[in-house]
Amino acid sequence: MPTDPALPDGRPATEVLAELRALRAADAPTRGGRTFAYVYDAGLEGLDELAAEAYTAFATVNGLDPTVFPSVARLENDVVGAVAALLGAPGAQGTFTSGGTESILLAVKTARDHARTVRGITEPQLVLPSTAHAAFHKAAAYLGVQAVVVPVDPVTFRADAAAMAAALTDRTALVVASTPSYAHGVIDPVAEIAAAAAARGALCHVDACIGGWILPYLRRAGREVEPFDLSVPGVTSLSVDLHKYAYADKGASVVLYRDAELRRHQYFAHAGWPGYPVVNPTVQGTKSGGLLAQAWAVLQHVGEEGYTALAGRVAEASDRLLAGLRSLDGVRVLGDPAAGLVAFTVAGEDGAPDLSMLLHLADEMRESGWYLQPQLSFDALPPNLHLTLTPATVGQVDALLGDLGTALAKARALEPVTVDPALAAFAAELDPDTLGPDEVAGVLAFAGLGEGTGLPGRMAPVLVLLDALPGALKERLLSEFVGSVFRI
Ligand SMILES: Cc1ncc(COP(=O)(O)O)c(C=O)c1O
Repeated sequence: MPTDPALPDGRPATEVLAELRALRAADAPTRGGRTFAYVYDAGLEGLDELAAEAYTAFATVNGLDPTVFPSVARLENDVVGAVAALLGAPGAQGTFTSGGTESILLAVKTARDHARTVRGITEPQLVLPSTAHAAFHKAAAYLGVQAVVVPVDPVTFRADAAAMAAALTDRTALVVASTPSYAHGVIDPVAEIAAAAAARGALCHVDACIGGWILPYLRRAGREVEPFDLSVPGVTSLSVDLHKYAYADKGASVVLYRDAELRRHQYFAHAGWPGYPVVNPTVQGTKSGGLLAQAWAVLQHVGEEGYTALAGRVAEASDRLLAGLRSLDGVRVLGDPAAGLVAFTVAGEDGAPDLSMLLHLADEMRESGWYLQPQLSFDALPPNLHLTLTPATVGQVDALLGDLGTALAKARALEPVTVDPALAAFAAELDPDTLGPDEVAGVLAFAGLGEGTGLPGRMAPVLVLLDALPGALKERLLSEFVGSVFRI
């Protein structure tokens, strides 16, 4: 039977590259300081070129085997060594990984295996504040660990150390604190949480994925930053992403442990097959040396002085943005944001957070070329818009605030988006585990996410509906939606 060929006969390199470049046109800009999530722009001339050149030089090196490619061991020891010098304690050891999620997966695996072999725990638990990154829930699900979620303080959005201490049991393998949390950018009380974990013999992971490379430099730039790293008694591991505030390209993070004995539980080794003996410190087997090389190059180039200056620029952007937001009528900044992340909500006429208006605001801003990230309501925590600030946003803050004022007036004048109560009642009855394809297609189409329709221009109607759905159904529908995006 004739089939379509898998690929064209072969195309000229210039044509292929031109097509790739054209594909970027519909993406949010990653440089220029108008996309306030997902991207980290140091605003330093030549940094992207340096990272690309360093990547290219090592793209074909296989990080799987440092005995064949010793350069990989040298680079990784340098990078992890820098992280240990900044955030470690004597004897700390770590690993370069592909990102925050992988660092967290590995920290949870390490804690699970440590609990099993050292403490005899067969059904381990992971105690985490409700604001901990979703990657911990992913790790718990992948690794067969039970997640025990403790609500945060609804006023400060910080983890409630006393409530977390009360949630610890003899099965607790790992306790988590974020510095800061992604959602609200506030720093959890690390010392208290770590002390409570130590008192029960449990490990404690500090998720400094987003804050780990900016907080110490903010301190150097003159800001007050509480100790939060492995120097704090009871903290046993820490994750820090170099592809965030260290401004390396994506695919660069480090997980660090108190000592070699702990890191040992992270490694996977297998000699029971006829191929080469396998030792994998990380999830991946074969991995390009390119990501490590570009991270190394960026760290070396920016250096201590560079990172201190960049942290100062982020702090400046944050101060100006916070002052501007606080002066806008009806806008409330959530908590006391520590380092570059800001979340705010908008009140309606009754003074309560107004989800519809907030999402109209995000849509209006998007139409003006800004991306602010909507975050839905959760437990007692209000829906909000999240902004990640980077040095490149400093020069944009005034323009952003100006457009925000205009967009807010427009959002207030727009018809509120509501969910048909009959649909909400119908959806509440659906069992996400047994939904058939037709029912899924029906609800998605109703939400404006029907197959082949692409993303709607305005997201407010979709997100208002999602916000009203029960969590498990929300997760099922989002998975189906993303599955329809990756349609093959
Ligand atoms: C605090 C925190 N932890 C973990 C992660 C996950 O990192 P990644 O997206 O690199 O997997 C993030 C990402 O924003 C984060 O902010």
